[in-house]
Amino acid sequence: MTHSPLLRSDQTLFRDPDVFELTFVPEHLHHRDAQVKELAFLISPALRGGSALSAVLRGPPGTGKTTTVRRIFREVREETKKIVPAYVNCRHDHTLLAVHRSIFTQVVGYAPPSSGRYLDEIKQGIATRLHDHDAALVVCLDDADDLIVAGTYNTLLYQILRLYEKWDVRKAGVFAVTSNLDLNLGAEADPSVWSVFHPTEITFLPYSRTEIREILADRAQQGLYPRVVPKPLLDRIAGIAAGEQDIRIGIDLLRAAVLLAEKDGRRRVTHADVTAAARAVTAPALRNRAAGLSEAERALACWIAERSHDGADMASGTVFEAAQEYLPVGKTTYHEHLNALTRAGIVDLVPQKGRGREVRLRYDAGDVAAACSSPDRTCETPNSTCEIPN
Ligand SMILES: Nc1ncnc2c1ncn2[C@@H]1O[C@H](COP(=O)(O)OP(=O)(O)OP(=O)(O)O)[C@@H](O)[C@H]1O
Ligand SMILES: [Mg+2]
Repeated sequence: MTHSPLLRSDQTLFRDPDVFELTFVPEHLHHRDAQVKELAFLISPALRGGSALSAVLRGPPGTGKTTTVRRIFREVREETKKIVPAYVNCRHDHTLLAVHRSIFTQVVGYAPPSSGRYLDEIKQGIATRLHDHDAALVVCLDDADDLIVAGTYNTLLYQILRLYEKWDVRKAGVFAVTSNLDLNLGAEADPSVWSVFHPTEITFLPYSRTEIREILADRAQQGLYPRVVPKPLLDRIAGIAAGEQDIRIGIDLLRAAVLLAEKDGRRRVTHADVTAAARAVTAPALRNRAAGLSEAERALACWIAERSHDGADMASGTVFEAAQEYLPVGKTTYHEHLNALTRAGIVDLVPQKGRGREVRLRYDAGDVAAACSSPDRTCETPNSTCEIPN
């Protein structure tokens, strides 16, 4: 690279663009030691000629469940032939045949012949291979809630966990994964499955802002040339991702901001790049949040956005008084709506010294106005358009 501040058109800021792909499995898995240890413990009996144990992995989206399993499976594959891991993406494969075909491909090393359309043939192919190599099977059913929707969850667990009854193989271990916190994959198992399942619960808690910061810094180091993203900007990106409780937003944002700088021929990401990238990356999240609000709450959000955009005083009491002119709501209703906006993650109420709380938007004011306006109510002129229905 030259020392010129501008990039030549054939130069890039990405040392390795794959690092920002969602399927990328990072070299170092931060803050998941406990989960890795637990999974390794469950697999370990299979190393000694026994059977792997089963688990249910549960945690909100983006907490590293898939990555943790993929990491462990990769290590197992590199270290031993005595255990055969099979990773099934149940979003793609949720029929009995599709899941077994996926397992077959990973166990045997090639896809089952198209003539092998019958489930029993495929199961036999899996079992024969395991038997011949005296290997134990460990299956990860990722996003297993799709199996419940498809009505195949119990049958699949039954067939995988009881493979040993029909063929002379060791009992398989199953890791069932879900990000649906309302779903208890253990309790969804029928009694006939439960007697061979007994899963250990492994929980994946959301990452803190500091943890997200570390993961992103690591990603930047691996995927970008040095000094492309200044530290304060990495902090800002981590803050946005932590606010959204979604590390994927952080990774996307990092990539998008760097692409903007690159497109502009600059060697360094600026605040403006992050602001522009954040708009694009967080727009879908913001739309989802707005969709959960009532019409009246959206009207208030819309009005707050305009006020904030105009640089007006945002102390909660002042906002209420000013709102009186346009929005016919009492103080109690105003506070209820404001709390709804806080719960939805659209505004924060920040305590101010001696003057109550300040209403602060989490997103760009223009984006909030766009997400909260409805076709028959635009946000441009408050007194004519932002009316709150009673
Ligand atoms: N501890 C970590 N260290 C490094 N990268 C991580 C870590 N946890 C998650 N990531 C990254 O964050 C992204 C999301 O992680 P992952 O896909 O494992 O989450 P998940 O819990 O399976 O989410 P979902 O429930 O939505 O499937 C991936 O790109 C992954 O590489
Ligand atoms: Mg996942």
